[in-house]
Amino acid sequence: MIAACGSAGVAVVPQGGNTGLVGGSVPLAGEVVLSLGRLGTVTDVDPISGQLTAGAGVTISAVAQAATAGWAYGVDWAARDSATVGGSVATNAGGLRVLRHGDTRRQLMGVEAVLGDGSTVSHLGGLVKDNTGYDLAGLLCGSEGTLGVVTAARLALVPALAQRVVALVAFDHLDPLLAAVGLLRRELPSLTAAELFFADGLELVCHQLHLPPPLAAGHEAYLLVEAASTTDPSSELAEAVDGLAGVGDVAVAVDRARSGALWRYREGHTEAINAIGPPHKLDVTLPAARLAEFVPRVREVVTGVAPGPGTRTWLFGHAADGNLHVNVTGVEPGDEVVDDAVLTLVADLGGSISAEHGIGTAKKRWLHLNRSPAELAVMRSIKRALDPAGTLNPNVLFD
Ligand code: MLT
Ligand code: ZN
Repeated sequence: MIAACGSAGVAVVPQGGNTGLVGGSVPLAGEVVLSLGRLGTVTDVDPISGQLTAGAGVTISAVAQAATAGWAYGVDWAARDSATVGGSVATNAGGLRVLRHGDTRRQLMGVEAVLGDGSTVSHLGGLVKDNTGYDLAGLLCGSEGTLGVVTAARLALVPALAQRVVALVAFDHLDPLLAAVGLLRRELPSLTAAELFFADGLELVCHQLHLPPPLAAGHEAYLLVEAASTTDPSSELAEAVDGLAGVGDVAVAVDRARSGALWRYREGHTEAINAIGPPHKLDVTLPAARLAEFVPRVREVVTGVAPGPGTRTWLFGHAADGNLHVNVTGVEPGDEVVDDAVLTLVADLGGSISAEHGIGTAKKRWLHLNRSPAELAVMRSIKRALDPAGTLNPNVLFD
């Protein structure tokens, strides 16, 4: 089908769960949309190596369910029930547990993909040691469908950590919260997530999702800490939280229902923000040492370029990765002045303009902020080598 489209000069836009946030799977000019949804089978589940093979259309939840016999899938995020393996490989999805298990590329033992000329490359043997030339899986991962259409992936699993506890730790200043993240990473071996949000975001989530406030009083910033192990990590978590400075209050959950309720305050941000209007979504990484400075500066920068009374800047994200989701509401969707100002600030501070969502069509105007002309030239050469006719996802990454 891809070869036929190539010969007919028709471009192809691969589409997985359609949960992407940068327009990477959206056709713009009459391209054929190729849904991978029917490649929904999990095969070759191997409890000895801790690996399985998933078709591109398998959802992330379904991978997690297929990982039985003491294994689990290490990558997870809020869109787990719709997002699919093909899209997660194409975008190198990150999510909530990168600090513990790494991103999608880290789980990838091999891929099967169809290239622009219709040929198939398949390397699904799952060998841990396999130094036989170029790492095509690593190259295709994060290429956003521009080099090949991923049809299946061999995924490494991680040991299931059945005992899971969550604490929502409130701080009145950001500095001690960020110091706490460093300390928890050093002193809490069972740490699996450290998620950040702020007072205004929590208030919005409570209002939009009709949730009670998690703590008796409001605080400036919140760190959702998750610890997981094969044995109960409660006392380890309690001891680590006791050792943190600047803590205003703490809520702890040791059972599944209450843990899910605490996670809802963090995972509900996207839904709550979407409910008040289409946000400008800027998914950025800052070097750890610049994160504290970035938070007030990004608010000032947004207010400076979009001073209207309706402009609001919402910040939340993955504290241990330096990955903040900057969402700005109250600014016309087509007005790129905010995007430009925020992404320029991020690059000036040594950060990345795309942490985990990719470049897609939405961010390609700013790719030069992070990638030198030499790097972009290499990327274009690779694109020409694997997709000489430019059949695959021609609107994303670069023109
Ligand atoms: C998240 O961390 O919640 C996701 O990346 C989604 C988002 O940024 O809206
Ligand atoms: Zn995220």
